[in-house]
Amino acid sequence: MKVAQFSRIGFIMAAAGSAVGLGNIWKFPYMTGEYGGGAFVLVYLITIAFIGFSVMVAEMLIGALGRRDTVSSFERLAPPSQPGWKYAGFMGFNGLIIMTFYSVVIGWIFYYLFEIFSGLPTSTEAAKATFDNLVANEPGIQIFWHTLATLIVTYVVYRGIKGGIEKTNLVLMPALMIILFGMLVYAFNLDGFSKAFEFMFAPDWNKLNSEAIVRAVGHSFFTLSLGMGSIMTYAASLPKHTSITKAAFIVTFMDTLIALVAGLVIYTFLFHEGAPAAQGPGLVFISLPVVLSNFGILGTVLALLFFLALSFAGLTSAVSLVEPVVQYIIDRFDTSRFKAVLIAGSAYYLVGIGALLSYTKAWGSTFSIGGKPLFDILEYTTDSILLPLGGLLIAIFVGYVLQKERVYAALEHEMGEKYFAIWRFSIRYIAPVALIFMILNLMGILKI
Ligand code: PFF
Ligand code: NA
Repeated sequence: MKVAQFSRIGFIMAAAGSAVGLGNIWKFPYMTGEYGGGAFVLVYLITIAFIGFSVMVAEMLIGALGRRDTVSSFERLAPPSQPGWKYAGFMGFNGLIIMTFYSVVIGWIFYYLFEIFSGLPTSTEAAKATFDNLVANEPGIQIFWHTLATLIVTYVVYRGIKGGIEKTNLVLMPALMIILFGMLVYAFNLDGFSKAFEFMFAPDWNKLNSEAIVRAVGHSFFTLSLGMGSIMTYAASLPKHTSITKAAFIVTFMDTLIALVAGLVIYTFLFHEGAPAAQGPGLVFISLPVVLSNFGILGTVLALLFFLALSFAGLTSAVSLVEPVVQYIIDRFDTSRFKAVLIAGSAYYLVGIGALLSYTKAWGSTFSIGGKPLFDILEYTTDSILLPLGGLLIAIFVGYVLQKERVYAALEHEMGEKYFAIWRFSIRYIAPVALIFMILNLMGILKI
């Protein structure tokens, strides 16, 4: 089974579309607020530069050399004496687990886009009541928007690499960047901007604790879409003669830039109105609408644009979360794309309903395990366990299992000898050590 090929710009936009997501515009800003600003941002940037980028190159390399679904690619590239590596390819299934809650959050964004037309909330209490009520008391409304999100995402995936994924990203990614950079220009002229800049870039080391470090490392993997086979699956359709190093660099750069811009924009608005930074996950759903309500009609327009950009970011990432399993089903079971999408889509859609019900008053206890809502369990498991594990497997496979000559042949002419040596050092030592450290820490075995 031969996979379709992206155009070069199509691949960059699709991989950037995968990376730039809710992680950048929703999660990164509120995590920065929760963990105290500059110091957290610095750890995040360092991890991206020294580990994230190297693993991105490694994950793209497996896809580009394997040219199949994730399981088949590992199987094909592993030496015959180590057939077990094919199981690493099942990291592609993490995408579906993420989709169970990712789709629900995209649903919330759709709901907000729609609600903006009936006016922005003018007090935090009102805004909190709207959000809490949606999550706790309105399973029907949430299922409606989760269904719509699922239909859009599965339709795009059904249309395939070229006709669906590439096309969608070529439109939505530029649109998203225009909106966000436009908002940055506007924010730049507000009083809150210098405060926001200082908050994000002047590290206050007293606020940095071990939890913040672990979260920053974990988030740098989530935000770059690493360790789940998304980037690998897209790279299987990498057009020939494309520099993996360059592509990985552009995608990493864009993802980081957009997270920083989103943070600056949101904190400028917040500080402009004197609101505090630490808001948690409700930041864009509760605080931002209230702050924007003070800007009059312009605020409504800004809110609309912001949630539009957020929905574009979410949709392009969602597509990349579903594609690995779809590609796997098509390749391994010789089924049609339609059937594969139907199977993968229904699986995450149904569990997603369980996830959203786990936050409701009526069904919360039914959909909880050991007092923890299913939503949180799914998020924690992927974000904090499966994803670093996937990253670790990729680093070990490329650093120790793939023949050095092969890796060298693929990358040396792109990087040059010196940078190749640095990259390989990062993949063989820095990334595995950091990831093992993190996994042990999360399991509570090693406390830092
Ligand atoms: N990188 C996406 C974000 O920042 O929202 C989320 C994501 C997409 C994670 C695809 C993993 C993945 F494979
Ligand atoms: Na991201």
